[in-house]
Amino acid sequence: MHVTINVNGEEHGDEVEDRTLLVHYIRDTRGLTGTNVGCDTTSCGACTVLLDGESVKSCTVLAAQADGHSVTTIEGLADGESMHPVQRAFQEKHGLQCGFCTPGMVMASVSLLRENPNPTDAEVRSGLEGNICRCTGYHNIVESVLAAAERTTEAAE
Ligand code: FES
Ligand code: FES
Repeated sequence: MHVTINVNGEEHGDEVEDRTLLVHYIRDTRGLTGTNVGCDTTSCGACTVLLDGESVKSCTVLAAQADGHSVTTIEGLADGESMHPVQRAFQEKHGLQCGFCTPGMVMASVSLLRENPNPTDAEVRSGLEGNICRCTGYHNIVESVLAAAERTTEAAE
C-alpha cells in the first residue's frame, strides 16, 4: 500500500506492506536508525517516537496507521546544531550509559514534559515506566528530565 508520512518535517510517499511496523518503516525505509528495537514484546520503549506529538512505541503501530500523520524521531529533535533541551540535559546530567535506551527515553521525556512541564521525581518515574534501561541508569535519567523541566520553565519565565 502507499503511505504518505511526514517524518521530521518532510513529507514522504512510500510503498509499504500492510503489515510493516512503523519502527521498520522508520529504520529500513527511511534509514533513521536512531530509533532502536529492544524487544518483541512491546515492553522496552527503545522504539519510542512521537506520532502527532504524542509518544508511541513504534513497534506497536503499523506504518499504515501513520499514513497522513507526522512522526518525529530522535534525528528530528535538534534544531540544526542546537540540541533539544532534553537532549542537552541528558548529556549534562549523564542520563545515559550504553545509550541503547536513550533515543526512546528522550522521546518519551519530551512527550512527558509537554503534558506536564513541571513534574515531580515520582511523576517522571511513573511517566517513564514504559521505558526500560538495561544499564539501570534511572537515577541520572530522572535527574536529566527534572533538569530539562527546570530549564524549560526558566526559559518560559
Ligand atoms: S522495541 Fe518497541 S517496546 Fe521494545
Ligand atoms: S543506557 Fe544502556 S540501556 Fe539505558
